Amino acid sequence: MKLFIDSAKIDEIKNSISLGYVQGITTNPTLLKSAEVWNYNKNLRSFYSKLLDLFDGEVFVQIPLREFQNVLDEIEPLDRTRLIIKIPSVSNGVEIAKRIMNLGYKICATAVYTPFQAIVWASLNVEYIAVYFNRMEIAGIDAIENVKNILNSISSKSNTKVIAASIKTFEQLNSLVQIGIDHMTIGYDLLEKLIESNNSRNDADKFDEDMASVIEAFYQKRKPKI
Ligand code: E4P
Repeated sequence: MKLFIDSAKIDEIKNSISLGYVQGITTNPTLLKSAEVWNYNKNLRSFYSKLLDLFDGEVFVQIPLREFQNVLDEIEPLDRTRLIIKIPSVSNGVEIAKRIMNLGYKICATAVYTPFQAIVWASLNVEYIAVYFNRMEIAGIDAIENVKNILNSISSKSNTKVIAASIKTFEQLNSLVQIGIDHMTIGYDLLEKLIESNNSRNDADKFDEDMASVIEAFYQKRKPKI
């Protein structure tokens, strides 16, 4: 199981990494825009360099289909072994992906909605395919059935891994785990709550209370009787 933080906000990213169970950072142009990255970084290179320096996991960089070379030039000096290049799953994306793979980058085909797209990308041997769960639901697609079909369409011998993306609720997360998704990217709000449950919190409080009684009892036993 791999969990990624879906964000371009540096505070959220830092907090997520400090949770200790996040293995990667996924970004896209919309996330960069909402984080206003231009206000906090000299350029894209310094932004992604900062993310790489935060931990030793993977950083996903989405390139535009138009003028993608500009973004590639920006990130050119950065550690390619940990940069994953995201490319939307459209026909001109395939040509670009092949060129970029030849430069030694790993690819994540993103905005994947159909099993056919998944088959094509897996046959190109990309590292990841990101399926947009919530957006499928918004589009009126039976998202869970669709993601199941996508998983089934990729041969078990394939190295391509399916990342569930665009996840907004615990119900969506839960149903994805049930069908065997083991790579997920989630926003900070959900991510930080993954470890919590009201029941666990109540149990933990009760254990603390009982341990305090145990320690107190030991202390009382040791206290010299006057
Ligand atoms: C992740 O890689 C995606 O870019 C992200 O989850 C998109 O989903 P959303 O914009 O619907 O949240």
